[in-house]
Amino acid sequence: MEAHEKGYFTEETSVEVVTGRNANAGDDRLKQVMEVITRKLHEAVKELEPTQDEWMEAILFLTRTGQMCNEWRQEFILLSDVLGVSMLVDAVNNRKPSGASESTVLGPFHVADAPELPMGANICLDSKGEDMVIEGRILDTEGKPIADAVIDVWQANDEGFYDVQQKGIQPDFNLRGIFRTGPDGHYWFRAVKPKFYPIPDDGPVGQLLGKLGRHPYRPAHLHYIIKAEGYETLVTHIFDPDDPYIHSDAVFGVKESLLAKFDRRKDAKRAADYGFTEEFWEVKHDFVLVRSQA
Ligand code: BEZ
Ligand code: FE
Repeated sequence: MEAHEKGYFTEETSVEVVTGRNANAGDDRLKQVMEVITRKLHEAVKELEPTQDEWMEAILFLTRTGQMCNEWRQEFILLSDVLGVSMLVDAVNNRKPSGASESTVLGPFHVADAPELPMGANICLDSKGEDMVIEGRILDTEGKPIADAVIDVWQANDEGFYDVQQKGIQPDFNLRGIFRTGPDGHYWFRAVKPKFYPIPDDGPVGQLLGKLGRHPYRPAHLHYIIKAEGYETLVTHIFDPDDPYIHSDAVFGVKESLLAKFDRRKDAKRAADYGFTEEFWEVKHDFVLVRSQA
């Protein structure tokens, strides 16, 4: 009889012994998940040969990560983000046909109950920042406009903070809104140019980034969730291609197709029409949704 058949745990038999013990698992998917994770973890230990102190350091890191979590802060999601795991899970779940808009991470700053606003509304409620007008169309993969698409948008302000991070400083629902397209699939709204910002970095994930010689910044972006009856929901961003962090997003969320056009306009007549004082930014971006399978 081989050692693993007797059930003895050795360096050589470790994977078979542990996964063999799960033979009676009632849930096949759980069994498969634990088999793969066990195999990869044991492989890592065999390659790294951590000392007991190093292993304890890892345990304490995960402990601090859990202790940092509360109703508002999810440090494990942040860990998944900076490891590229969030973007990988997103990628394997959102393989899109060519021409369809690509997805990216949701992030922690979405709020469910933002106000529905008339098309063209200004989502900047405190007049701080550089004026910006954003417009585009919601299309299907054949280029036809999608009516009644619901566009949920949110962004950081010109100092890199979301309203929920600055309660009492920014008005509630600042730089958030929900818009609904008409028959032409067109959308537009006014806002201010967002700025790059650090992901929450005052916890163990921020310390890890520091030790790895990495910065915590995300390049300036606007978040979108776009829903339409009969289409797959799109969770995505558009990015400022000229942002200093565009090639080093802390959470790997940037895709080439999500770079929007940000143009500086000096047009007194249009500025007056928009209620802007002088120069403004103009951003154009169309989104293409995929029909749902069902
Ligand atoms: C965000 O873009 O809001 C975000 C995404 C991942 C981690 C932190 C923030
Ligand atoms: Fe964000």
